[in-house]
Amino acid sequence: MPRFSPEFLDELRTRLRASDIIGRHVKLKKEGREWRGLSPFTSEKTPSFFVNDEKARYFDFSSGKSGDIIGFTMDMQKLSFVEAVTRLAEEAGMEIPKDSHQEQARQEKAVGLIEAHEAAAKFYQDLLYRADGRDALEYSRGRGLSDETIKRFGLGYAPASQMALKDHLINKGFAPDLLVEAGLLIRHEQKPPYDRFRDRLMFPILNQKNRPIAFGGRALSASEKAKYLNSPETPLFHKGSVLYNLAQARAEAAKMLREADSALIVCEGYMDVIALAQAGFGNAVAPLGTALTESHLSLLWRVCDEPFLCFDGDRAGRSAAYRSIDRALPLLKPGKSLRFVFMPEGQDPDDLVRQNGPKAFRDAMGAARPLVSVLWDREEENHSLETPEKRAFFRQELRRLVQSIKDKDVRQAYGAWIADKLLESFGAGSRQSKNQPFGRDRGAYRPKNKTGWGQDIRPAVPLSASPALKAKLGSTAKLGRGNRAGMRERERLLVLTLLNHPDLFRANEAEILGLSLEDPDMARLLSAYIDAVSEQENLDIEGVRRHIQTVPACAGVLESLLNDQQLTLLKFTRPTATLAEAETGWRNTLSLHLFHGLTSEEAAELALESLSDETGEARWRAFQNHRRSMRSQSGSANELGNVEKSAEESE
Ligand code: UTP
Ligand code: MN
Repeated sequence: MPRFSPEFLDELRTRLRASDIIGRHVKLKKEGREWRGLSPFTSEKTPSFFVNDEKARYFDFSSGKSGDIIGFTMDMQKLSFVEAVTRLAEEAGMEIPKDSHQEQARQEKAVGLIEAHEAAAKFYQDLLYRADGRDALEYSRGRGLSDETIKRFGLGYAPASQMALKDHLINKGFAPDLLVEAGLLIRHEQKPPYDRFRDRLMFPILNQKNRPIAFGGRALSASEKAKYLNSPETPLFHKGSVLYNLAQARAEAAKMLREADSALIVCEGYMDVIALAQAGFGNAVAPLGTALTESHLSLLWRVCDEPFLCFDGDRAGRSAAYRSIDRALPLLKPGKSLRFVFMPEGQDPDDLVRQNGPKAFRDAMGAARPLVSVLWDREEENHSLETPEKRAFFRQELRRLVQSIKDKDVRQAYGAWIADKLLESFGAGSRQSKNQPFGRDRGAYRPKNKTGWGQDIRPAVPLSASPALKAKLGSTAKLGRGNRAGMRERERLLVLTLLNHPDLFRANEAEILGLSLEDPDMARLLSAYIDAVSEQENLDIEGVRRHIQTVPACAGVLESLLNDQQLTLLKFTRPTATLAEAETGWRNTLSLHLFHGLTSEEAAELALESLSDETGEARWRAFQNHRRSMRSQSGSANELGNVEKSAEESE
């Protein structure tokens, strides 16, 4: 008969809510912490059947029965234990152990291995207080550990002998093979197995149930090559998925009063964790001599959203932090990230709390930085931005990094953050930036000062939508409802303003050529306009009109556009407006045209695009400008009104 391990059954009971499972058979009403209903086992009239989700059990006072969801399911559906567990496990999304005999053998072996570790831990602990362990105890005290801390972390001493632990455990009935498998003894070809840990201060590594599954040992003599020695990989212990002190740190974190204090702190070593705990930061953990793995990250994120990672402030510490970023980036999930804490140079958390006290550590934590900003620093540090090629490479790198994020929402948010950061750091408005990678070499695109409009309104490079984006912006399906009418108006405004100000063409050529219009009449007019002005350099209003009138099917449309009273309410469209007014109004209308109805997803995609080239950046910039102006203008109900307002403002 298949057997399920107690762990498997526990997991099953925690994954499924008792009131959900039982509630399918019994109508339950919430009553305080419990649910109450009529017993399914008797025909009672007054409900005396209770379900408690915390205890994951039911209690039936009318029949005297009680049990968990497995027993209940067996009773109600007339199933065997195995059938009931199998059915519930499917529901909980848990995989049934394939060969449960093997599973059972594995479990039994694990029990034996854990028992051996418990016996070993006790042996080491006892020795710490004997003559043999005197030096180790003095060493621990010398490092500032109180006797209480030494007890709390179960520190011990492994004697210098090759046989001490082995003899002790064999006397207790443990088989040498099991002790080898536990990693406590080392097997040797020419001689019998011998103790792995010798003359070391011992740190037991506990599992989630606070039982020892491995050890770390610190050398006491400086001549020892390996300062720390850890248990090897065993059936109980996989370095990559164990964090030192996790179970206790988790419990401590849960006790923290302030939410902000309840995040786990990840540091490098055993001594850091212990010193922090003694200084009041019981919520610290450490990987075991390895970099953070994917599995570590998911353990951390199960406890808190943004664990703190501590690093030395020196170069090595920084590069370790950078490595963790690369590890974490693909795995980020909405809400789940990392915070980086840099210690003063050359100090680890242990040194810091010992030399400068808990407040110094708290201050360092207070200066913790979000992952994204450390990432930005790294990229800025690593890239010279002196030549166009190097700048392009910088962009390419940023884009590659953002694209390594697997989660779509996080990836999009990163794209937007970085696009904004590029603008803020290197955009046209910024003069402080040390090397101005994106502000320079743009002479050809720089707004001419005589047109008089502010740099915050005008992108430093032309707007021209990519075919893909144009297709999107142009397709009515993607535009929000209710914007249809607005869109028609905007297209007419754009064309009319151009007709009345032929000079706009030279300064806005790229935007105009890239403009895609839905209304076929306006599209025809625009192309006739482009023909006219690109053929003849200084064509005036009359010249443009004359040219357009010669194009079949344009004359009537031109007539009706010029006579559109609604449009000429807006001052910037009129021939009498100054070129600056016309340009401001036109560009505002253009950004509305380009971005109106852009969903946040499309905006995020645009942000990503903006990392790939300058055209993309220009579109992002225009989008930002548009958003900013929408935000600063109260009540955006009447867009035409807003356009007019900004035109008036520029007078
Ligand atoms: P460190 O060498 O940074 O030492 O190792 P530490 O934690 O400051 O140790 P103390 O203060 O000198 O006692 C950090 C962690 O790296 C792993 C251990 O887990 C250690 O806690 N390590 C280090 C090893 O596994 N093996 C080593 O030889 C050294
Ligand atoms: Mn240290």
